[in-house]
Amino acid sequence: MVKAWIVTGALALCCMAAPIVKAQQKAVDAEGHQWWQHAVFYEIYPRSFADSNNDGVGDLNGIASKLDYLKDLGVDAIWITPCFPSPQVDFGYDVSDYEAIDPMYGTMKDFDHLVSEAKKRNIRVILDFVVNHTSDKHKWFEDSKSSKTAEHRDWYIWRDGKGPGQPPNNWLSTFGLSAWKLDPKTNLYYYHYFYPEQPDLNWRNPAVEKAMLDVTRFWYKRGVAGFRLDAVDTLFEDTKLTDNPVLPGTDKFGRPNMDERYNKKLPEVHDVMRKLRGAAEEYGSVLIGETWTSNVSELKDYYGAKNDELQLPMDLMMTEFKGLSADRYRKHIGAVDAAGAWPTYVITNHDIVRSYTRYADGAHNDDIAKMMAALYLTLRGTAVMYYGEEIGMENNDPKNKDEVQDPIGKLGWPLEKGRDGERTPMQWNDGANAGFSKTKPWLPVPASAKTHNVASEQKDNNSVLSFYRQLLALRHKEPAHRDEAILVVLNMSATEQKVQLDLSPLSFSSPKLSVLLTDFHKPLAGLTDALPMEPYSVFIAKIAK
Ligand code: NOJ
Repeated sequence: MVKAWIVTGALALCCMAAPIVKAQQKAVDAEGHQWWQHAVFYEIYPRSFADSNNDGVGDLNGIASKLDYLKDLGVDAIWITPCFPSPQVDFGYDVSDYEAIDPMYGTMKDFDHLVSEAKKRNIRVILDFVVNHTSDKHKWFEDSKSSKTAEHRDWYIWRDGKGPGQPPNNWLSTFGLSAWKLDPKTNLYYYHYFYPEQPDLNWRNPAVEKAMLDVTRFWYKRGVAGFRLDAVDTLFEDTKLTDNPVLPGTDKFGRPNMDERYNKKLPEVHDVMRKLRGAAEEYGSVLIGETWTSNVSELKDYYGAKNDELQLPMDLMMTEFKGLSADRYRKHIGAVDAAGAWPTYVITNHDIVRSYTRYADGAHNDDIAKMMAALYLTLRGTAVMYYGEEIGMENNDPKNKDEVQDPIGKLGWPLEKGRDGERTPMQWNDGANAGFSKTKPWLPVPASAKTHNVASEQKDNNSVLSFYRQLLALRHKEPAHRDEAILVVLNMSATEQKVQLDLSPLSFSSPKLSVLLTDFHKPLAGLTDALPMEPYSVFIAKIAK
């Protein structure tokens, strides 16, 4: 057993021992760990990763052409955000056919090619399953809205308004309007938690459940290793349509804040998670959840009382921490670890301002990016990276409303600028369009692409990319087995910290410490009684008996 080791007394310092487990391709290792427990997952936003046909939008062949880069980086699985046919109102999260590839990304043949090329490199492919809603252009919804007696009528949520011009209740769409839209054909409202073009499926209908479970099997049979499940918190709504309590204050769209207790996180969600898990188990697949939990206890619920729900519910709570407080991170990580389940750490994604931008202080930006990488990539647990984090990509927010592509940014400008800024093209080199495409990309690349790009950083041993590669290599080769521990010391402050290396809490009689990785600017002059931790630095060492 590896012992967790926390140094106390050091200000603004986060210090812990972490078992860095070995990524293997075998399903289960000698200690009973599944492949997904070792794995580093890498989220790819396909519109923005690599454009093979130079139309300004990324595609599957583009991803396939970068598999060697991903392998070399140390990625074990890629999660591709939706690449299915879609009107692209929500850039793929409005799916109009769950069992095909959108021509903008390629063909099913390209997809099969990507899976087989990835497999050759021991990289697994995870798809994104939009479980809560379809596109309004999905054939199920087209049929559903055609008449009150249509075969798919009850596949969505249709209700009478309260009165003329009045929706059924006060529920709001998280994307800025009412959650109800009147459809003139049958003069009833349908429910949509996201855009009106994303009608919610009625998961109380067994036919919906069956059709959706079959979708997962369709992809498992094609070699997909699992799914990231989109928006699981919103799968069910109160059948009585009880109004949500109104809270003080207003949101980014100027509407009253709401306690969404009647249309989010209903207990029925867990029944569906269990059923999806059942189908996943038939194929030895893994489920990662987009789980926006408010606390560790809610997160724990998503594993299931009998560990029969999600293997990897994402801990998205750290993405909401403001500022860098070692104490806050230490407490949170301690609580997640103590919950007894296998954690899944994430610090950013395609809906959240990039981690580089969130933490940057203007003076130590790259050091902070390395320090945060060392935090979530060495903890006991699975890590989910977001493309471009490894090169220190920053947000490139639209400068004015006319540039905005994401509809929420158009609706909520200027308080809500939308999510374009965190979805800009991957920066492959310092040339035109950052090497992403030969054509003007769908979103602009920032000026910082000149310095923060793969080609330049590969040549620089001190780059963010070089640090990520070393870190991931360590994660893969240092299992921290029984007679050893890995010590990770992070300085989360802008000032140097002296850390007393007191190894006595470890039950090793005469522990030996060997340095594995640091990002110090000055060479470390031997290990004496106090370790001089430069501002926002990382020190990783192995402790053996
Ligand atoms: C969460 C996805 O990550 C986000 O991009 C999308 O807009 C919503 N779910 C709706 O599908």
